[in-house]
Amino acid sequence: MVDPQRSRRSCLAVPGSSTKMIDKARGLATDQFFLDLEDAVAPLAKEQARETVVAALNEGGWGDRIRTVRINDLESRWAYRDVVDVLEGAGGSLDTVMLPKVTGADQVHWLDLTVTQIERALGLPAGGIGIEVQIEDARGLTAVDSIAAASNRLEALIFGPADFMASINMPSLVVGEQPPGYDVGDAYHHVLMRLLTAARANGLQAVDGPYLQIRDVEGLRRVAGRAAALGLDGKWVLHPDQVDAVNEVFSPRQRDYDRAENILDAYAWYTSEAGGKRGAAMLGDEMIDEASRKMALVVAAKGRAAGL
Ligand code: GLV
Ligand code: MG
Repeated sequence: MVDPQRSRRSCLAVPGSSTKMIDKARGLATDQFFLDLEDAVAPLAKEQARETVVAALNEGGWGDRIRTVRINDLESRWAYRDVVDVLEGAGGSLDTVMLPKVTGADQVHWLDLTVTQIERALGLPAGGIGIEVQIEDARGLTAVDSIAAASNRLEALIFGPADFMASINMPSLVVGEQPPGYDVGDAYHHVLMRLLTAARANGLQAVDGPYLQIRDVEGLRRVAGRAAALGLDGKWVLHPDQVDAVNEVFSPRQRDYDRAENILDAYAWYTSEAGGKRGAAMLGDEMIDEASRKMALVVAAKGRAAGL
């Protein structure tokens, strides 16, 4: 199974019905991709898309990226067959199943049990397939703590801004941007922070959803930068032009990474026998202590995962 803390800076959304886009996706340097059976696939194409997705996973060529399939939500008529067909067909060739529009822990329990049965039936490693869930409406956000604690298979909570904005009647047509007339702060701060704290309380990663203005890379950087500054691990990308910007925004800057490693080295020395067993000490003009070490560890871990 994929290390749940593995880098998820960029997650490429790929329509499961398009062999052309699936082939193109193989060449893109994202940390993760998901083959979509949900909203990017028209109802009449859903069944064929399952077969396309299974073939694409088995064919391979995905390097060490996290391989994910987004199934349809549990109120649709497609979800159970998505899970059965995809896992029976390619259960050994994917890392996680993404469940959209999750409204309660019961839905995660259902998916966990179903995956468990299929793993047993196929003789796949127990617990090898992870789960990621999208929080995309008011019910999901209200229940996010119990959702985040619902399964040992969970690896990440993902914010779905488009569905979320629609579900709460936010009068905006530009996903991720501030709704017109709201000029007193960031309309997404509460939901991102809520999702992030629920994720961290359960040792999960937290990922921001898509930015739909494909040509506006500056806008993407701005919106992604806010999520990265709060501490989220990554964001979806929908187009090759978005990949570099998102990977960069969710990687620490080289100088911050170097500084974090310096703090860790200095702290290890000060607290050692040879360094005088000190709990707090100066590094240049800055006092560092155990809390500074923890902050430095966050930046260092992200930098190491990004290969800095
Ligand atoms: C993604 O699924 C979204 O609704 O934004
Ligand atoms: Mg959605």
